[in-house]
Amino acid sequence: MVVCGYGKVILFGEHFVVYGLPAIASALELRVTAEVIPAEHGIAADDLLSGKKVFLGRDSAPIIDLMPFFLKKFNVPKDRHFYLKLASDVPRHGGLGSSAALVVAVTRAMNEYFKSGFSDEQVNKVAFEAEKYFHMTPSGVDNTAATYGGMVWFQKQPDNRVTMERIKLSQPVEIVIGDTGVSRDTGNVVQGLRERKENNPEKYHQIFAEAESLVHEAKQALLGCDLPLVGELMNRNHKLLQDMEVSSYELDSLCKVALRSWALGAKLTGAGKGGCMLALTPGRNLQERVANAFTDEGYTAIKTSIG
Ligand code: MEV
Repeated sequence: MVVCGYGKVILFGEHFVVYGLPAIASALELRVTAEVIPAEHGIAADDLLSGKKVFLGRDSAPIIDLMPFFLKKFNVPKDRHFYLKLASDVPRHGGLGSSAALVVAVTRAMNEYFKSGFSDEQVNKVAFEAEKYFHMTPSGVDNTAATYGGMVWFQKQPDNRVTMERIKLSQPVEIVIGDTGVSRDTGNVVQGLRERKENNPEKYHQIFAEAESLVHEAKQALLGCDLPLVGELMNRNHKLLQDMEVSSYELDSLCKVALRSWALGAKLTGAGKGGCMLALTPGRNLQERVANAFTDEGYTAIKTSIG
C-alpha cells in the first residue's frame, strides 16, 4: 500500500517554536509517498537526493543511514529482504519539511508492511526521533504537520509534551510558494540563532515577546478569516525573522516582489537563510499574478493552498 507524509509551510512561529512558543503550520498537497515491496536480495531504497537505488551495507544516503533505526523500531531482522519505493514532489532546498515528510512516509510504509499497528500518534513519535538525524533539536512541528495534514497550532511544553490543535478555515486559501533555489542546513541555521540569542539576550527577549503575541493574534485572524490581518501579521513575522538574521537576500527579494504584486502578506517559511517563502494570495487571479512575478524574476513558484 502506498502511504504518504505531507510537506508543510509554517505560517507563523518558526524558530520561536524551538524555544516553546506556539507555531501555526499548514500541510501542503505536496508529499512524499512510500511503499515497501518484497525483494529477492537485501534491503534497498530510493535515495530522493541522487535518484538512485541504494542498498543497506553498500551505500551511504540519508534513507540508508536511517534504516538501522527503522529496523529496530519495527523489530525487523537485517536479513529480511525488501525495497522501499519512494517518490516526492516536495522541493528539497528547505523550508517545506521534506525531511519530515520523508520520515513520516517511511514510518507509515514500514508500519503497513510489517503490520505493526502503529497509530498516527505513534507514527508521529517515531518520525520525530528520525528527524533528529537531519537536525539535532527539532521542535516537532514539521513531523506533526507531515503526519496529521491540515492546519495545526503546535506548541512544545517545557516538559517536551506537545499541544496540538487543529485550525479549520472556512475554505482553503490560495498561496504562492517562492523557492530561492538556495539550499541550507536547518540544524546550522537553528544553531547560529541559538548563539546570537545567547550573546544578546535583551534584544531577543523583546523579539520573542512580540512573536508570542503575534502568533495568538494570527490564530484569531485565521479563525475569523480576516485575511488582510493575516497578511499584515505575516509581514510582521518576517520582519522579526529578519531581525534575528535568518532571512536572506533572495527571501527578502521574493517577499518584496510578492507585496509589489499585491499579495496580502509574505514571509520566509521554515528555517530561512535560503529555502522557501510564501505569499498569501486569496483568489486565482492574485495567485497567478504573484506566481508570474516570481518566475519573471527567475525564481520557481508553486501555486497551492492552505487550510
Ligand atoms: C523548520 O521547518 C522549523 C524550525 O522552527 C525548526 C524546528 O521547528 O524544528 C526552524
